[in-house]
Amino acid sequence: MWVSQSVAELQGSLRSCWKSSTSIGLVPTMGALHEGHRSLVRRARNDNDVTICSIFVNPTQFGPNEDFTRYPRALERDLALLEAESVAGVFVPTPVDMYPSGFDTRIDVGELGRIIEGARRPGHFSGVATVVTKLFNLTRPSRAYFGQKDAQQLAVIRQITRDLNIPVEVIGCPTVREPDGLALSSRNMYLSPSERLAATVLFRALNAGRDAYRQGERTNAQVRDAVTVVVQSERLAVLDYAEVVDPDSFSSDDPCTDRSIIVIAARVGTTRLIDNLTVSAEYEHQGPRTLHRQQRTGTLPSQL
Ligand code: PAJ
Repeated sequence: MWVSQSVAELQGSLRSCWKSSTSIGLVPTMGALHEGHRSLVRRARNDNDVTICSIFVNPTQFGPNEDFTRYPRALERDLALLEAESVAGVFVPTPVDMYPSGFDTRIDVGELGRIIEGARRPGHFSGVATVVTKLFNLTRPSRAYFGQKDAQQLAVIRQITRDLNIPVEVIGCPTVREPDGLALSSRNMYLSPSERLAATVLFRALNAGRDAYRQGERTNAQVRDAVTVVVQSERLAVLDYAEVVDPDSFSSDDPCTDRSIIVIAARVGTTRLIDNLTVSAEYEHQGPRTLHRQQRTGTLPSQL
């Protein structure tokens, strides 16, 4: 497994893949890898000739009061995990390599970047969109893999690849959860044992929203109330938002439909966690949505 620590090294490692028509699957990460990341790697390995992974804690997607400096870093362990998964190579750039002096371009993802999670984290999705576009340009993957756990991020990536005609197939992969429902996240390691127990409230609340939908509630407010009540019952948790949204636009227009997802953010102690669930269990079983080739090249409307 090659490990490239600079753009120049990376290009050297990938040149032979680009020359032959080897398909490349890219899994972008910020490291501190867990089973969620591993599931993306396995899907990529299944779909492509070569799987590569990037590990980069991207400073431009963290706000001034967020956890950039204390974000978990575990490079040796991550590389061992990726080697065991037979990944072909890993790109581990430095911030200076990604953002050399004079770097001054940012992708504005428009309304989708400013609502829900984007409203709480100004500039976050612009930072994500910019770094992911750079990673696409640097690696030229056939397919790139993202978790549904970060549903708005997935919608943002789909939007930029469509709007900017980036020739990559974006694959959304299901959320991997602990047995008690907590979605795996690198940030879960911030939780104390009592907070870890309390953190299951996100999944419990999402399921309460799903139950409300199953029982016939069809407005954002009704489903949101069912979610909110559960979060309020947990002493260690403070709700940031709960909304029912369209999985592409993230607009919360009534009525909710089977395609809608419930998105939630809550603080457990000082740790901010996000999660989401489709309102309809049946819809989830249809599996991840992927774009068709014509959509990737911009010749068809985006909506499936
Ligand atoms: P990171 O948080 O490391 O996540 C890397 C990828 O793993 C993302 O696509 C994320 O959605 C996915 N992921 C995280 N937890 C998951 C889970 N429990 N189940 C399934 N997939 C999961 O997301 C980022 O990094 C960054 O924003 C990045 C896209 C790398 C850009 O910097």
